[in-house]
Amino acid sequence: MTSFAIAAVDRDDLGFVHAMLYEAAFWRAGTDRPPLDAALREPDLARYVREWGRHGDDGLVAWIGEHRVGAVWVRRFDDDDHGYGYVDEDTPELSIAVGVEHRGRGIGRCLVAAMLVQLRLRGCDQVSLSVERDNPALQLYEQMGFTPLTGTDGAVTMVRSLS
Ligand SMILES: CC(C)(COP(=O)(O)OP(=O)(O)OC[C@H]1O[C@@H](n2cnc3c(N)ncnc32)[C@H](O)[C@@H]1OP(=O)(O)O)[C@@H](O)C(=O)NCCC(=O)NCCS
Repeated sequence: MTSFAIAAVDRDDLGFVHAMLYEAAFWRAGTDRPPLDAALREPDLARYVREWGRHGDDGLVAWIGEHRVGAVWVRRFDDDDHGYGYVDEDTPELSIAVGVEHRGRGIGRCLVAAMLVQLRLRGCDQVSLSVERDNPALQLYEQMGFTPLTGTDGAVTMVRSLS
């Protein structure tokens, strides 16, 4: 039987988290992707993972057997340096991806649910994210209780209350 587990992000997982960040940033099928290393050097992307271990960083990795299959992580930003889904300093921003061959099996939903529990335990009032309007992930977020806060033509910032 295939077993599925979720564990806290460890230092050894960071390479995998970087790969999942790349999947989240370049999620659209059929588009040219830059090389991973070059993409992750771009400040807009690097800010989601660089110097991991700051106050407020939190992440979970999904495992099938000995293989990492997905990750969800949150990071806090401030007015001077923030991601696309920034709301305020107290609101962590969530990022997620599941390896392409493991999608559509409920892993992403489980990761989001587990992170919501984790953040509630840590006393967070809400969590945010940014998603492009044509990304099917938007349906997952809606199903998990995220609601639109602000948006542009291309993307929407969504918030999920934890209180
Ligand atoms: C978004 C993502 C993490 C979801 O993980 P997953 O394990 O595939 O998700 P689940 O199997 O738990 O499915 C949950 C819901 O996601 C939605 N969904 C996500 N991707 C989808 C897709 N490509 N096609 C259709 N529905 C999709 C559906 O609403 C689905 O619910 P349903 O099964 O009731 O239809 C995964 O598709 C992924 O890694 N995508 C690329 C990276 C990305 O876009 N990250 C988010 C950036 S904002």
